[in-house]
Amino acid sequence: MQKFTSIHDTPDPARLVAEALALKADPYAFEHLGRRKRLVMLFFNPSLRTRLSTEAAAQQLGMQVMSMNATEGWKLEFEDGVVMDGESAEHVREAAGVISQYADIIGVRSFPGLQDKDKDYADEVIHAFVEYATVPVISLESAIRHPLQSLADWMTISECQRKPRPKVVLSWAPHPRALPQAVPNSFVEWMQRADVELVVTHPEGYALDPDFMGDTPVYYDQDEALRGADFVYAKNWSPLQPYGRVINRDAHWMISPEKMALTNQGQFMHCLPVRRNVVVSQAVLDGPNSLVLQQARNRIFAAQAVMKQMLEVM
Ligand code: CP
Repeated sequence: MQKFTSIHDTPDPARLVAEALALKADPYAFEHLGRRKRLVMLFFNPSLRTRLSTEAAAQQLGMQVMSMNATEGWKLEFEDGVVMDGESAEHVREAAGVISQYADIIGVRSFPGLQDKDKDYADEVIHAFVEYATVPVISLESAIRHPLQSLADWMTISECQRKPRPKVVLSWAPHPRALPQAVPNSFVEWMQRADVELVVTHPEGYALDPDFMGDTPVYYDQDEALRGADFVYAKNWSPLQPYGRVINRDAHWMISPEKMALTNQGQFMHCLPVRRNVVVSQAVLDGPNSLVLQQARNRIFAAQAVMKQMLEVM
């Protein structure tokens, strides 16, 4: 594998899930693969899970790790042919090229600006690193996708499903801030390839991009969508129109015990971080059917499976 920015970078996502589960059973089986190899991670935005789980994954493969916060003070230029007489001191061509001198694999996290939909959906930061780096690049969450999260989520569903072809409901939930669509976009993209019945529910005005949704069924009635659900994946996202704004704070959409009572003893999922008693009630989040910590743990093995495949072809 030369890059991991979306599900389209793996020819067989189900095999990648199986590989991640095998690594979970024997985390140090491939410790030799990463000897004298280095992962460099670049964070344009903060992270708890992605940073620590990917670092743990690299260590379990025997790699060394360097991380850099690029959250402020380091202004990169992405435009081709630009006259750099403004704020940006360095072009991504040099930055990606230089980091490639220090790294065998590069990880990049870069959120959307949520100001301009076309600019965000061009996903220029991750694409620029893929183009100008000379080593494999992993998305640690881009403007529009979070593939490592989705891989870990598929693992979690595989581990916890109680029947073939479970019903998986992705439900919008309220949040005080405008959030990216990266997690729901990716979740839909990956679940469309899994053997599940995928349903999406959100208030009117919160439609996800049709390029991601395809023919996935959508319900505006959350209760109807939740009926018979085996898994409930809650997530807030901001609308595409008006782009990047909060247009609905309806607390009725919070995942509560009453909502979970509509399901088939449904198991609750969220990528974290989560706002307690806003997105999901404490009783659900702390309850026996909550899978959030298992999802977070599986982030290690998702990253490990991806880096293993990259190391194997070096
Ligand atoms: N789920 C997830 O990506 O968490 P972090 O933002 O903490 O990395």
